[in-house]
Amino acid sequence: MVAKCFQKSAVLSPLSSFKLSSTHGFINPNPPPSIPKYPELFPHYELAKSLASETSTIPSRIKNLPQIEASILFDDPEQLELTALIYGMLVSSYYWASPIPSVNIPSNIGVPFWKICQYLNRPPILNITSLEFHNFSYKSLAQDFHPDNLDCLFTFSGTSDEKYFYLIPLYVEYLGAPLLEAAFDLFSSIEQRNKEEIIKALKIFKKTIQKMTGALNLMYEKCDPGIFYFGFRNKLKSYEKGAIFEGISEDCEIYSGASAAQSPIVRLIDIIFNLNQEHKFISKTYQYLKKEHRNFIFFMNEKRPSFLRENIEDLGAKNEWNEVIDEICKFRETHLKLAYNYIIAPSQGRDNKGTGGSSLEQFLNTLITSTRRSAL
Ligand code: HEM
Repeated sequence: MVAKCFQKSAVLSPLSSFKLSSTHGFINPNPPPSIPKYPELFPHYELAKSLASETSTIPSRIKNLPQIEASILFDDPEQLELTALIYGMLVSSYYWASPIPSVNIPSNIGVPFWKICQYLNRPPILNITSLEFHNFSYKSLAQDFHPDNLDCLFTFSGTSDEKYFYLIPLYVEYLGAPLLEAAFDLFSSIEQRNKEEIIKALKIFKKTIQKMTGALNLMYEKCDPGIFYFGFRNKLKSYEKGAIFEGISEDCEIYSGASAAQSPIVRLIDIIFNLNQEHKFISKTYQYLKKEHRNFIFFMNEKRPSFLRENIEDLGAKNEWNEVIDEICKFRETHLKLAYNYIIAPSQGRDNKGTGGSSLEQFLNTLITSTRRSAL
């Protein structure tokens, strides 16, 4: 039997040259490896698997891990990503083991993590690429790609709330998959001045973003705001006081924590519709994306026809364009409510900072306003 998760595909599309999938978008439909291939990494793996137990001894156990030579992984992209995930979790556990962060990252974990991130061209901190795209397995290969049919390889707290906290945004990425081809179709039909095809592509955008917005609300069913806020959220935060990677550099650098602001599908939507490109926080976010995802998004940025809005209006697709802009606003408004209910409410208004380090209400509201301004 063909596994349902891998069904369909094989229609040759421009996406294949970017190693992206027409059915799963930015997600590799094949599950990532769950266990290291190299025995040198078994102790790291065991520790990352047991972060929820004996928490008081975690810093000393991390300090006692053997140091590996990162370059053994450079020819093995999947194992490299698995190792980036394991190290990312260990480094964040070490940094946030107590309320006052431990800014000096010991060389036994800091040096290999830093080298792996250099190689992957991402900052040396746990990010969404690791926590979502390389942190899932299928419960059944015969079932759909859905959070209830997926599991996480690693969590900090061992709770199902934390699993769903990573699997729901991953599901949003999956639901957004039709947008990758629709983006090509939209751009080429504008160039060909084909009104019918433009409208068809815009309708796909509208319908797909509607589904993505619907999936955001799954969070309320599956992840308790208290378990998120008081349980595992602090491990996802930025290196707020900076981090010194011993054995690499004495500079104390600040890096942004894991935030779905690093979502490639939402960043792609912004690029296609030419939204929020001037925003400082957003521009910084691209460096946290997986290199291959970033390359595709930048490629589409280059491909975007100039005078996009003017062309759409000229070609008579103003209503359909506005409907898409409205859907993007609804997605952002639904998401703002999540941020309110999971951060501002449990902290009784005392906390207004995202794990990515933004002043969240102001930041998210600015994006809604600027998105709305793009309507015709
Ligand atoms: C309880 C769940 C969630 C909370 C508490 C939350 C919170 C936040 C916060 C505080 C920010 C501001 C940036 C930062 O400093 O981190 C943010 C940004 C963002 N989040 Fe979430 N988020 C949640 C779920 C999701 C989900 C499921 C997605 C789906 C992909 C998502 C996508 C985004 C995006 C794309 C941004 C950047 C702003 C934008 O482009 O509109 N978030 N989130």
